[in-house]
Amino acid sequence: MYKFPDGFLWGTSTSGPQSEGVEPGDGKGMSNWDYWFQEAPEKFHNGVGPGRTSTFYKNYKEDIDFLEQTGHTTFRTSIQWSRLIPEGVGEVNQQAVEFYRDVFERINAKGIKLMMNLYHFDLPYALQEKGGWENKETVYAFRDFAATCFELFGDLVDTWFTFNEPIVPVEAGYLGDFHYPAKHDFKAAIQVGYNTQLASSMAVEACHRLNPDHRISVILNLTPAYPKSDSPEDKKAARIAELFQAKSFLDPSVKGEYPEELVQIVKDANALPEYTDEELDIIKNNTVDFLGVNYYQPLRVQAPSHTGDIDVALGLENYFDNYIMPGRKINPHRGWEIYEQGIYDIAMDIKENYDNIEWILTENGMGVEGEEKFKVDGMIQDDYRIEFIQNHLKELHRAIQDGANCHGYMLWTFIDCWSWLNAYKNRYGLVELDLETQEKTMKKSGYWFKELSENNGF
Ligand code: NOJ
Repeated sequence: MYKFPDGFLWGTSTSGPQSEGVEPGDGKGMSNWDYWFQEAPEKFHNGVGPGRTSTFYKNYKEDIDFLEQTGHTTFRTSIQWSRLIPEGVGEVNQQAVEFYRDVFERINAKGIKLMMNLYHFDLPYALQEKGGWENKETVYAFRDFAATCFELFGDLVDTWFTFNEPIVPVEAGYLGDFHYPAKHDFKAAIQVGYNTQLASSMAVEACHRLNPDHRISVILNLTPAYPKSDSPEDKKAARIAELFQAKSFLDPSVKGEYPEELVQIVKDANALPEYTDEELDIIKNNTVDFLGVNYYQPLRVQAPSHTGDIDVALGLENYFDNYIMPGRKINPHRGWEIYEQGIYDIAMDIKENYDNIEWILTENGMGVEGEEKFKVDGMIQDDYRIEFIQNHLKELHRAIQDGANCHGYMLWTFIDCWSWLNAYKNRYGLVELDLETQEKTMKKSGYWFKELSENNGF
């Protein structure tokens, strides 16, 4: 039996842009995702865009009942900036205020601990048009949006997150093609990463000032990076990968400063962002109260394959290569590596190097393509998901036995939701969504999750 500490939280995570959908006249403004879909719908799997998610905006009352049926003691979603403040700054959409207040009241009434995130990859398009996160104006706009949320909803929510996986838009949007604006620009990537950190620290400051008894954090995908071999080159590459992927937000968020090694690499690449000493003080003085950690799969790293002089400003490929480990265990339904020990390794890093700060596993989960084929008598028999969760929980349990300060496990996700360019390709939920009829049906894992929560273990 794997028993978890008393009061351990069990729940799921989702986000506003992936679950709410759009209803005519709801007053929502255009986000970067709405714009991208309008411009290039062919990029989205089966042409399904962000307007057509699991319709939480319309059906939240029924959806919230599923929280109870699946045994949630905690639940995380996000407030859509473009819903609350359609232009990014200025006027507040009163329909959004009423919607979010009703959602939060109903969840609180069920005794479920709400955790509210402020930014899940979704930027009001009006700000994107002015350069988005490359422009410091967005930083101040985010600070004001965060303060508005603390003021409007602070009586209903006391646990906040500033950003979800802030490194992802940096990499996917400025070094890759998976997020808007999909430009390949290393220097812009560094500026966007820095501006996002500054915005996060400013929101922490606003939270503590406006509601001193509230707690606030950031959600980081602390993807561990393992070297291909013990060679100094591979080890160095893995260290650099870890610095960029994990430490770039972890250190300033928890310790208030960037790792010296990372600063040096960026300096050598001539890519230091525009910053001021006052801004560095804001980062220094506004660290998080606890941590949200997302974990899916590790990075396997080898030294870069190029030789000779390189223009280091070109991109991360100059520092490390990803490597596919032969014989790795993979999720056959999604292709991602499954490596449960990653959770243990993250936990020990937090314990040893980050003062064992309190944390919550805010995402972990199994994406499955074509999941309807596992349907028997009207219910998806997702034993593979149950096994996936159990195996990860065993490692989390081991970490807690060894002193990890982890207080909860949140699965991605609650009801099958929309996943960016992949739209509905991979299903992650405890509850199945029929995209055509909008019918929602518990999966086997939904029933199992309730037992898990009631037994505080398995
Ligand atoms: C992490 C992200 O936070 C979430 O938006 C995404 O859908 C899941 N991973 C699954 O890929």
